Amino acid sequence: MKQLLLSGFLALFLCISFQLQAAPEAAVAMPDSYSAQVSEQVLNSGGNAVDAAIAAQFVLAVTLPEAGNIGGGGFMTIYKGGETDFLDYREVAPKKAHKDMYLDKNGEVIPYLSLYGILSSGVPGTVDGMWQAHKKYGSKTWQSLLAPAIKLAQEGFIVHPALKSNINWRIDSFNSKGIKVNFAKYFSSAQTSKIFKQPELAETLKRISSHGRDGFYRGQTAKIISQFMKDNGGIINEHDLASYQSKWRKPIVKNWRDYTVITAPPPSSGGIAILQWLTMYDLVKGDKTYEHNSLEYMHSLAEIGKRVFADRAEYLGDPDFINVPVASLLDQNYLSQRAKEISLDKISISEQVAPGLEESRDTTHFSIVDKWGNAVSNTTTINYTFGSGVIVEGAGFILNDEMDDFSAKAGVANVFGALGGTANEIQPNKRMLSSMSPTILLKNNQVNMVTGSPGGTTIISSVYQSILNSIEFNMSAKSAVNTPRFHHQLWPKDVIEHYAGIEQATLSSLSGKGYTLKQREFGDLQLISTVNGKYQAASQQGNAHRGVALVIK
Ligand code: DON
Repeated sequence: MKQLLLSGFLALFLCISFQLQAAPEAAVAMPDSYSAQVSEQVLNSGGNAVDAAIAAQFVLAVTLPEAGNIGGGGFMTIYKGGETDFLDYREVAPKKAHKDMYLDKNGEVIPYLSLYGILSSGVPGTVDGMWQAHKKYGSKTWQSLLAPAIKLAQEGFIVHPALKSNINWRIDSFNSKGIKVNFAKYFSSAQTSKIFKQPELAETLKRISSHGRDGFYRGQTAKIISQFMKDNGGIINEHDLASYQSKWRKPIVKNWRDYTVITAPPPSSGGIAILQWLTMYDLVKGDKTYEHNSLEYMHSLAEIGKRVFADRAEYLGDPDFINVPVASLLDQNYLSQRAKEISLDKISISEQVAPGLEESRDTTHFSIVDKWGNAVSNTTTINYTFGSGVIVEGAGFILNDEMDDFSAKAGVANVFGALGGTANEIQPNKRMLSSMSPTILLKNNQVNMVTGSPGGTTIISSVYQSILNSIEFNMSAKSAVNTPRFHHQLWPKDVIEHYAGIEQATLSSLSGKGYTLKQREFGDLQLISTVNGKYQAASQQGNAHRGVALVIK
């Protein structure tokens, strides 16, 4: 175990010292040292980017319980052998779910029901997702990719202070809200810098290792889950589990400047939002030069954000249930018209920013490039920090609270302040709208950037700003992830959330213009970028972060 800790520190050291080294062959940007170490080992032993991603996903289910998971879902954007691909392993609503399931008899939303506890979970997609990714692209054995996670669950891992502090925060907040979940029973014994073991989770991972997807969706694990649901008033049953299917979709692929952006299609809103934001940015800016995080820059991007989020609330949802007008939303003429509405002098009135087409706190991300130039950009989630707060007893994993990403009632915001209507209402087997935006940028058909972040709706701002920071402002990977960011999403009205570190004069001018400024940190960018023809890898730094980035020779 000591060895693991040492390797963690070594990885951190390597991250700093190798960042600028010549002729790298591969790179990873990971949310913790265990996933960094394991993905590096997989790549060094001849595995490809997808192999490394699968091993990392299972390790994070053990070492980053806030967000890493087998009880949640996610999206994987892939560039492999010169082809683009996208894996949607998003959770779906259980078959017994219905549109009004979170409303009381007066039609009001029951506080927290979609966010905490057993009714907040969608049917998990992660294990099927990894299984499908392995079937299509894996080169290492499935068992070898599960082995590191099983070891870490069985023998334990050393608890990072950030994990301990998140556990304490979560337990306190459940207690203060009077929410009865079994989270503390499983996690209160974790102590900073001490070994923490998860024996039930180890057994579940072993069944997944031996039986593949059936080790989770059928047999003993499925029985444990459905019995636990029955005993505790949940609605996910064996049929929901057996019939879960992740889906291969066409990613959104669109040119922006000299780059090909490969990003997440619906049921993510992220890809469309990022491309709308980048495209309108160029249209609004025109020939002007903006300084980074200046008044003009922040106002223009906030104005664009109003329009992006008006469209998101109206048009976006699960493409298997509704017709999402992707091409129209990304059409150059449409975006030019939208951009023309923006004035550099004044804020548009939020109530008047309508969807534009004519009628006709947890997730985690990692980025990988292998020595063959293949890339994986993967964002995975159980939604809010530690998901529903419910651990499946006997199987040892945390259930997601992804149902909160649906619109429980038109006009009522979810935990990320996102509004929605019929496009994102609850229906059995439907995927809830997401903001997860795993993105890859190519330049001259070579991987140039791999980027992504957690953060609910702020994911979109973290990702598009990581792109602008790198490309528009020529920042190193390290600066691109650490420089202060900001976010505006139409509602709450004229609120810009921002990191500390933006110039006071700019903040005063924004407030003079009518914005309300709220200082808050969001996201955890994991970025691989290309600077002077070489990869740089960077994980966002700071007390709340524990990422490790490596450029591997
Ligand atoms: O899919 C989504 O958009 C959300 N469930 C993501 C949640 C998230 O990023 C929480 N992280 N801080």
